[in-house]
Amino acid sequence: MRTEPSQPLRVLVTGGAGFLGSHLCERLLEAGHDVLCVDNFYTGTRANVAPLLAHPRFELLRHDITFPLYVEVDRIFNLACPASPRHYQLDPVQTTKTSVHGAINLLGLAKRLHAPILQASTSEVYGDPAQHPQTEDYWGHVNPIGPRACYDEGKRCAETLFADYRRQHGLDTRIARIFNTYGPRMQPADGRVVSNFIVAALRGEPLTIQGDGWQTRAFCFVSDTVDGLVRLMDLPDSCPGPVNIGNPAEFTVAELAALVHEILGRPVRVVRQTLPADDPKQRCPDIAAARGKLGWEPKIELRDGLTRTISYFKARLTGG
Ligand SMILES: NC(=O)c1ccc[n+]([C@@H]2O[C@H](COP(=O)([O-])OP(=O)(O)OC[C@H]3O[C@@H](n4cnc5c(N)ncnc54)[C@H](O)[C@@H]3O)[C@@H](O)[C@H]2O)c1
Repeated sequence: MRTEPSQPLRVLVTGGAGFLGSHLCERLLEAGHDVLCVDNFYTGTRANVAPLLAHPRFELLRHDITFPLYVEVDRIFNLACPASPRHYQLDPVQTTKTSVHGAINLLGLAKRLHAPILQASTSEVYGDPAQHPQTEDYWGHVNPIGPRACYDEGKRCAETLFADYRRQHGLDTRIARIFNTYGPRMQPADGRVVSNFIVAALRGEPLTIQGDGWQTRAFCFVSDTVDGLVRLMDLPDSCPGPVNIGNPAEFTVAELAALVHEILGRPVRVVRQTLPADDPKQRCPDIAAARGKLGWEPKIELRDGLTRTISYFKARLTGG
């Protein structure tokens, strides 16, 4: 079972200035580690890590992981990759390069350093799943040439590379398949459903529901997701995964819209839009492996997490 590392380590977090990465950097500093945050600021910002810049054990390096990186660290979390469809579809070739070339560069670094490396993979590797809920042994249902493929297939190829570096080079690789995560520091205009709904509701605009609103998502609060990633990396016995990290409580998009309005105490106003291509209809993790191997399950309920996220966006939209 899980044990905390006994001594401070030098930990590299790629994509550390992004939404998830900045929370992970914070958590690692709290645990007493030295953190090297590497980011090209494609979707991440210095503002996300501004409170950490003065920390004596925090270092920030602007670097694009599609180019090799030579640093000395004990552990690597590879989170660099735009995660929202709006962002990863802006430059799909760069998105694939970030996943594939980025994985090759970081796996090469991990091999040289004999360092454990964790890949932030995604539930998108399951595509529009034919199995529900999704277990880690489900191979997925992905359109390899659709508009989401740069992300889905890039992440799938990165998983392949992680598995092959383990088989071929004996590297200690770990793969987390992260499901929809939300919380403070999401970007207001990133097009993800939680931020879309909260921002629209705070502005008094109707919420845009794509399709009939019956498609389901499972929303995990960011502190829970980060806890899962840290536990996976902290496992003393190498645990290659993949391990699903997500909240198995399933909500329809329409239910999410209603809950946002309820928390804000406003009547529901929605407009409908057609569903984008290859949008998954159901998404829900089976987390038996995370429960069993990591002793992990999410703690924050959607209402609580949404309330905290709404407070963040309220402050951000009013410049607070
Ligand atoms: N948030 C989620 O719901 C979710 C779900 C599944 C998987 N993930 C994965 O977790 C990771 C972090 O996601 P996030 O939600 O924080 O997204 P994000 O866009 O906020 O963060 C990604 C970070 O990576 C950086 N980046 C992008 N390309 C880079 C490159 N070539 N070199 C260096 N840095 C680069 C960005 O600037 C940003 O700071 C991603 O790999 C994503 O695929 C996230």
